[in-house]
Amino acid sequence: MNLLIIGSGGREHALAWAASRSALRPRIYALPGNPGIAELGTLLPGDAADHDLVTAAVAEHAIDLVLVGPEAPLVAGLADHLSERGVRVFGPRRAAAALEGSKVFCKELMQRAGVPTAAFRVAEDSKTALAWAAEMPLPHVVKADGLAGGKGALIVHDRDEARAAVEALMVEERFGAAGRRVVFEEFLDGEEMSVFALVSGEEYALLPASQDYKRAADGDRGLNTGGMGAYAPVVGWTPTLEAQVRRRVIEPTLAALTSAGTPYMGLLYCGLMVQAEKPAVVEFNCRFGDPETQAVVPLLAGDLLEAIWAATDPAGSRGALTGIEPDGRAAVCVVIASQGYPGPVRKGLPIAERAVVSSDEALIFQAGTRREGQRLVTAGGRVLSVVGLGRDLPQARAHAYEAIPKEPFDGASWRHDIAWRGMAALEGASGSSRN
Ligand code: AMP
Ligand code: GLY
Repeated sequence: MNLLIIGSGGREHALAWAASRSALRPRIYALPGNPGIAELGTLLPGDAADHDLVTAAVAEHAIDLVLVGPEAPLVAGLADHLSERGVRVFGPRRAAAALEGSKVFCKELMQRAGVPTAAFRVAEDSKTALAWAAEMPLPHVVKADGLAGGKGALIVHDRDEARAAVEALMVEERFGAAGRRVVFEEFLDGEEMSVFALVSGEEYALLPASQDYKRAADGDRGLNTGGMGAYAPVVGWTPTLEAQVRRRVIEPTLAALTSAGTPYMGLLYCGLMVQAEKPAVVEFNCRFGDPETQAVVPLLAGDLLEAIWAATDPAGSRGALTGIEPDGRAAVCVVIASQGYPGPVRKGLPIAERAVVSSDEALIFQAGTRREGQRLVTAGGRVLSVVGLGRDLPQARAHAYEAIPKEPFDGASWRHDIAWRGMAALEGASGSSRN
């Protein structure tokens, strides 16, 4: 099988790594990929926004399956373009990818389907939005309707912040057209979790739940980032919660999409806020999460690529999405970022070779890296994902931090407390059982 992975991050490296272990023995291509993926396959140059270029690459390399990593190509209709040309692609068509591409679409669909989520209203113009900013109970959340690279949700605590949020999104147009409409949401309290469902229409399989650490600094302080680390499986994931997520979140959402004539096929990322084993949806994404994927994929006992291949089968065989149950271990992913991330960063700094060598205890996935002759150098904000594996969370966490060398590259920075919420919950549980 010839597999083409679209994207260049740690998520795509982790997916390529999983594919490289598949019984389907794929020949792996990535567009544009990164030096980590280059060790597992062939990199193809180009930009996935150019649908004709992707189609030409598919033809030239006789690609059997395209696996799309990031959201932007899906929201722009890459899956439609390829499917219409007879190419098997894992990732939703544009109409279903709108779950991530438009918060308004997503909230309205959840409302229709009765999926638990924060109460909301949509403002179409800044005058209305400013009026609501002055009266909506605090705290609340103001969100750009469209894609904003994970930075379009502003949590506001007072009236000044509320007004500033509307001005940033709708007047200054910080995220361009994405902020032309905004969603006001009630603030949800609870434990945030990410749950991935591998979906084909209304059939799906759940992957182990994870938790993302989005803030730049220890103690969940500092700016929001794409994600500084993650761990899985999440402590606090119970059979009761799982049943709620299946029946109240995933199944009604998939049914609503099918009955709207836009069935879902691909990875459905459910961003949840959980309180007392009850989930509410914060967001849906139309693709694997980054960095959660790096922590989740190594825990799957079965063959992820076989499940993805089955999901894309146009004949759609029932029960095909089985065999990817977790193996019982835990994983902690620590992202090594460039100094200054999520702001502007210096690039081209040499990376120590020992920083990218995987072992049985820790896998290293590459993201913002580049080859410069024989040297590996930094090429972005998030540079490496170090994924510690262990029989339980404390061991996985120890393995992750032990695998990070003293100075992976000049100015390398990472959080020292990834998975702290899980660790605290475990300590709380053992403390109470001792008492
Ligand atoms: P989003 O862009 O919808 O993914 O939101 C980004 C982040 O903002 C989420 O991961 C949450 O941490 C936070 N967030 C978004 N919506 C809410 C909400 N209604 N209540 C509390 N936190 C939220
Ligand atoms: N880690 C959050 C995301 O992938 O959207």
